Amino acid sequence: MASSVSFLLLLCMAAVASAQLSPTFYDTSCPNALSTIKRAVTAAVNKENRMGASLLRLHFHDCFVQGCDGSVLLADTATFTGEQNALPNMKSLRGFDVIANIKSQVEAICKQTVSCADILAVAARDSVVALGGPSWTVPLGRRDSTTASSSLANSDLPPPFFNLTDLIGAFDKKGFTATDMVALSGAHTIGQGQCQNFRDHIYNDSNINPGYATSLKANCPRATGSGDTNLAPLDPTTSYTFDNAYYSNLLSQKGLFHSDQELFNGGSTDNTVRNFASSAAAFSSAFASAMVKMANLGPLTGSQGQIRLTCSKVN
Ligand code: HEM
Ligand SMILES: *[C@@H]1O[C@H](CO)[C@@H](O)[C@H](O)[C@H]1NC(C)=O
Ligand SMILES: *[C@@H]1O[C@H](CO)[C@@H](O)[C@H](O)[C@H]1NC(C)=O
Repeated sequence: MASSVSFLLLLCMAAVASAQLSPTFYDTSCPNALSTIKRAVTAAVNKENRMGASLLRLHFHDCFVQGCDGSVLLADTATFTGEQNALPNMKSLRGFDVIANIKSQVEAICKQTVSCADILAVAARDSVVALGGPSWTVPLGRRDSTTASSSLANSDLPPPFFNLTDLIGAFDKKGFTATDMVALSGAHTIGQGQCQNFRDHIYNDSNINPGYATSLKANCPRATGSGDTNLAPLDPTTSYTFDNAYYSNLLSQKGLFHSDQELFNGGSTDNTVRNFASSAAAFSSAFASAMVKMANLGPLTGSQGQIRLTCSKVN
């Protein structure tokens, strides 16, 4: 009796262990995986500095839809509809070619060992580091999905017209606090956004710096259909540096999207924005821990899913 109880206990512990990620997951199975990914990310960011932003966003859009399972990387085919043409992703997500290149380099050193989901998580961290931001330890051992969900991409990824209540709700749904949400939004200290996503904010909202609005209007005409895809930096001050300028921009009403400025608009997150604007260290530490939390969203582990050979399709 006692031994069967302890056997059961062991079984339970094994089940828990297999459902957890570990930073040392590839230490014996593919010891050069992390250095290979880092080298490729650094090269890609050096070639085009926006790529750091694009890779960070890919990981976010992976994790918020079915968890961090590489589902965002599955391309549409005649018989398969994935997430890449869902509204938040279509003609907007980028970096798929860079991930494919990293995957082929990693496959060349360790056959079918490192998941695409893990590559995304490590590439996001390495991107932030390449642009001068904080580092953190990435838990590993995710496996890749055999499915994707366009409808979950549409329902779970927050759009740029969300108000503060909506934003807090969308992140609460994934287990994040409002402070985590504000910290993760600091990712908008890098990268670019399209006119169609900030047009209403610059023409219709009053909580925007007038000079900033005027300068954006020059490249984003009011009429829908003209200049829709014209780009503007999410951080107009230090666009290619991962710093806390995003928050000081918000203090001077220079958020690019309606959703950005909602974080500092007289509501419950104002003080968090002030805190992150005044303390780079407070932002770095909050961002890093929220990224680890995000990277732990619903991973497939153990024998679930698969290790894809090519990130864009199931084996
Ligand atoms: C808080 C809610 C969020 C909203 C409403 C939002 C919305 C958007 C939108 C609309 C764009 C521009 C897309 C385009 O015009 O093509 C964008 C870009 C970006 N987002 Fe977010 N986002 C949010 C949170 C996040 C989070 C949590 C991260 C990562 C941790 C992130 C990282 C980025 C990056 C890096 C870019 C620039 C990508 C590039 O230049 O390729 N965003 N976001
Ligand atoms: C936020 O937007 C939702 C609709 O998306 C609306 O129901 C709600 O009243 C808004 N909240 C505030 C505080 O404006
Ligand atoms: C601004 O608001 C008006 C009235 O609600 C709306 O018709 C218009 O499409 C909005 N957007 C722009 C860019 O003017």
